[in-house]
Amino acid sequence: SESYYNGLGYGDSDCGMSSSSSSWPKLLIRGGTVVNAHHQEVADVYVEDGIVVSVKPNIQVHDDVTVIDATGKYVMPGGIDPHTHLAMEFMGTVTVDDFFSGQAAALAGGTTMHIDFVIPVNGSLTAGFEAYKVKAKDSCMDYGLHMAITKWDESVARDMEVMVKERGINSFKFFLAYKDALMISDELFLQGLKKCKSLGALAMVHAENGDAVAEGQKRMMELGITGPEGHALSRPPELEGEATGRAIHLAGFVNTPLYVVHVMSIDALDEIAKAKRSGQRVIGEPVISGLVLDDSKLWDPDFTTASMYVMSPPLRKSGHNRALQAALTTGVLQLVGTDHCTFNSTQKALGIDDFRKIPNGVNGIEERMHLLWDSMVESGMISVTDYVRITSTECARIFNIYPRKGAILAGSDADIIVLNPNSTFELSATSHHSRSDTNVYEGRTGKGKVEVTIAGGRVVWRHGELNVVPGSGRYIEMPPFGHLFDGIDKADASYLSSLHAPVKRGKVTT
Ligand code: URP
Ligand code: ZN
Ligand code: ZN
Ligand code: ZN
Repeated sequence: SESYYNGLGYGDSDCGMSSSSSSWPKLLIRGGTVVNAHHQEVADVYVEDGIVVSVKPNIQVHDDVTVIDATGKYVMPGGIDPHTHLAMEFMGTVTVDDFFSGQAAALAGGTTMHIDFVIPVNGSLTAGFEAYKVKAKDSCMDYGLHMAITKWDESVARDMEVMVKERGINSFKFFLAYKDALMISDELFLQGLKKCKSLGALAMVHAENGDAVAEGQKRMMELGITGPEGHALSRPPELEGEATGRAIHLAGFVNTPLYVVHVMSIDALDEIAKAKRSGQRVIGEPVISGLVLDDSKLWDPDFTTASMYVMSPPLRKSGHNRALQAALTTGVLQLVGTDHCTFNSTQKALGIDDFRKIPNGVNGIEERMHLLWDSMVESGMISVTDYVRITSTECARIFNIYPRKGAILAGSDADIIVLNPNSTFELSATSHHSRSDTNVYEGRTGKGKVEVTIAGGRVVWRHGELNVVPGSGRYIEMPPFGHLFDGIDKADASYLSSLHAPVKRGKVTT
């Protein structure tokens, strides 16, 4: 049985969906410009049982089919957010958005799938995975899971194998920051990289030098800089650049692909660009906050305002954001996440006397699609096909779920948005769907509006109303050995053959 969610201000009281409750409606999205990463054309999209059945002009249907007119609008694959933290226990508290509220917000903003990070429980991967399956049981959109590796021993190595072979996880995140919490040493990182390679799983890295950050934090506290600005000052771009370069070099040494999460600075960007120039397989993921915000608000005299902007790696001086956008246009960076990790102002106030205690994280799951459209498509930096690639297709390819996700092709899941380029959006905590009482994009307006979101063949967002079903979201298993692993074995073989046989030497004679 389905219950249509109507609480907590999602939509108004009259919006229970009246159509059949156990089967999917048949849908025709008519007359829009259908955009995939490689091609766009004016066409209709016909959807049945949650799957795209056909994409072509002038599809004729019977009157039991719900028709959505998309004339003059873009019909695109729903966004996939590669980086979120819903219901995450972190820094002594829990994010306000759980899987249900975070996903509802995502759907209202045109994102139809996200990949969250399982945090192990007392270092146990299996316990962490089980905990996240419980957290995600009320999901209203499809989701996948990455897993964080926070310690290393034989049981972790064994569990990584179980996660990949039996639980649908194909990516592991290593933290080079958060000393005395999530951080691991280079020694353990190397073990993890080797294990990832053998399993065909993608290694992901939070790249900041955690030892130096701890030193920087001590320095700021000693100087009496205890407010949110101390957060940025204590962990400058150099520490991100250093850790990014180190992670890249170690992944190169092991010869396994690397995914750098939340690239926030030119320093990190330069390391990624250099590695790519040499042919190394490195993926850089900027997040929407890093692309469109800067660090200036951290100096706001009002603590509630300033603390909203505390995240790690921190927002940087203006200029880094523009460089990150430029890198997206040239392919040095390939996809955009959010790092959606929301805390209320009361939770942020845990750090009122000490910036080290401000829970790290900002919102973005609902805002990413609109902000990226406005700042990069509307400004002429990227094409609409690029937009689809950056917000959806690339993520699906990297995590090996393309073309089920990330495309509008016959046979793909019906995760579809209709965006009106002539409409406008406005972002505010008073109208957003996150449970957070603040929004780092407060008051921002722009061009382009997601008017319809279809998730798994259901219309979940239309006429400014959400119609979401707890439990309708599915766990999407992500298989190992995605395309980034193609040819790795050949490169290893040619490396080995280049070494020559060990030099034969006789006995040492004196
Ligand atoms: O500030 C952040 N990024 N919070 C979430 C945890 C992480 O490092 O991704
Ligand atoms: Zn209504
Ligand atoms: Zn991180
Ligand atoms: Zn994160």
